[in-house]
Amino acid sequence: MTTDVKEIIGFDKFIDDLRRFQVGGSFVGTELHIMYDLVIELLGRSQDANILVAELGAYQGLTACLLGAAVKDSENGNARVVSIDNYSNPDSHRDLVVEAVSNFGLNDFVAILDQDDLEYLHSCDDDSISVLLVDSLHSYEHVKETVPFILPKMRPGGLVFVHDYQPEAEEQYATVGKAVDEWLEEHGDKTIDHGRDGRFFWFYIKEDDDE
Ligand SMILES: C[S@@+](CC[C@H](N)C(=O)[O-])C[C@H]1O[C@@H](n2cnc3c(N)ncnc32)[C@H](O)[C@@H]1O
Repeated sequence: MTTDVKEIIGFDKFIDDLRRFQVGGSFVGTELHIMYDLVIELLGRSQDANILVAELGAYQGLTACLLGAAVKDSENGNARVVSIDNYSNPDSHRDLVVEAVSNFGLNDFVAILDQDDLEYLHSCDDDSISVLLVDSLHSYEHVKETVPFILPKMRPGGLVFVHDYQPEAEEQYATVGKAVDEWLEEHGDKTIDHGRDGRFFWFYIKEDDDE
């Protein structure tokens, strides 16, 4: 976890702007902070070219802005965010995502795609994604279908966040956690590191052969 003063100032400014622009999204403050810190840390030490930070599920733009702010504040000139949503949720709106990204001054850092998430994942090269936020359709079937495609697409050392991971919740809220846990049971021996923070947030780091 980073404690750099500049990064904390960057995050505080982000939270202030969030309140000012009333951007909609489902992340709580702690989750935003954890994701921001981890992304900044990863980008701070990466000298890779063309660093891809992707999110599946944009909704109204909150996490698109968070990831964009982390990329901007990291000052890693090689990183860009791609924010994917098929806008199937009646409350999700591409216009709001575009407006939020623009209000945050992040147009140069975030590309907004109207696309199905699985279709997007399939279009990515293997080992091409450095940071992936999975937060689209939360049905058990959809997450179960998505999860096997994630690791092959991640760069070694890449960071995966899965939101709404709560396997111990009532059945209707446990869908994401159940699908992820089943995948972990099958592939646990290949897991180099995974962490659970709070009840809603799970992250995973793909094994880096160089380390
Ligand atoms: C929980 S919201 C995302 C919240 C957002 N990450 C935030 O907190 O700012 C889930 C989004 O996934 C989108 N979605 C649902 N199914 C999808 C699919 N198959 N492909 C892409 N997006 C999808 C919905 O339209 C909705 O906007």
